[in-house]
Amino acid sequence: MRLFITGVGSGLGKALVLEALERGYEVFALSRRLPAELEGRIHFAPCDLRDFERIPLTLKKLLDSSDYLDLVILNAGVLGRFGDMREIPLRSFEEVMSVNLWANKVILDTLSDLGIGVGQLIGISSGAAVNCNRGWNAYAISKAALNCLLKLYAREMEKTHVIALAPGLVLTPMLEEVMRQDEERFPSVRRIKESPKRTPEEAARLIFQLLPRLREFESGSFVDIRKL
Ligand SMILES: NC(=O)c1ccc[n+]([C@@H]2O[C@H](COP(=O)([O-])OP(=O)(O)OC[C@H]3O[C@@H](n4cnc5c(N)ncnc54)[C@H](OP(=O)(O)O)[C@@H]3O)[C@@H](O)[C@H]2O)c1
Repeated sequence: MRLFITGVGSGLGKALVLEALERGYEVFALSRRLPAELEGRIHFAPCDLRDFERIPLTLKKLLDSSDYLDLVILNAGVLGRFGDMREIPLRSFEEVMSVNLWANKVILDTLSDLGIGVGQLIGISSGAAVNCNRGWNAYAISKAALNCLLKLYAREMEKTHVIALAPGLVLTPMLEEVMRQDEERFPSVRRIKESPKRTPEEAARLIFQLLPRLREFESGSFVDIRKL
């Protein structure tokens, strides 16, 4: 079984790779960093996903010998700067949209150009896609757009089962950054601090356990793990 995943340098992505290896997957990854514990255990190509022009060639080399991927997890994401809409310049929106949204279009188009089939595609989305709470600006917009992007691809990729998955609260560097924000000004921060969370390892195990169940949803659906 072959897994292709983006964003393995920390947090959920790194834990998903470790879980996949335990389950016997051959893993292919694009990310800026390769954590020491993954060295020599996966096929890795360093890539900054903001660099759209580099993605196709890097993917072609990485997936040279593959014509089918059982599982693709589009995990890489950035939070961007917390703040009110008017405080955040368009440039910051563009940066978040590049990683969280447009890089995924480049990746999916490249897989199609390379003739690589995909069995199951999971895009890591967020509750922010529908909550749009104060302060989440570009991140919320990027995840809402990601849900739409994946639904659009689901209608075209007839042999692939596609889900946009909100993974729940996972104790990663990104969530720690959220919890450092001003909870008076941004009430969702307090709610997050008070809510139950999973470790990346627990979340990764749960995601793999849920893969067959996710297939029961219509392809292109947005699923929040907390509602399952
Ligand atoms: N933690 C939560 O509670 C939570 C909740 C909902 C959704 N999510 C989503 O879960 C996913 C993983 O986030 P996380 O919580 O694990 O946070 P994280 O530890 O900050 O991980 C972000 C990942 O994205 C990769 N990445 C960031 N910028 C990149 C770039 N320019 N090029 C290539 N890779 C890049 C990073 O790898 P490199 O540094 O190696 O590039 C890293 O592995 C994200 O899509 C996030 O939006 C998380």
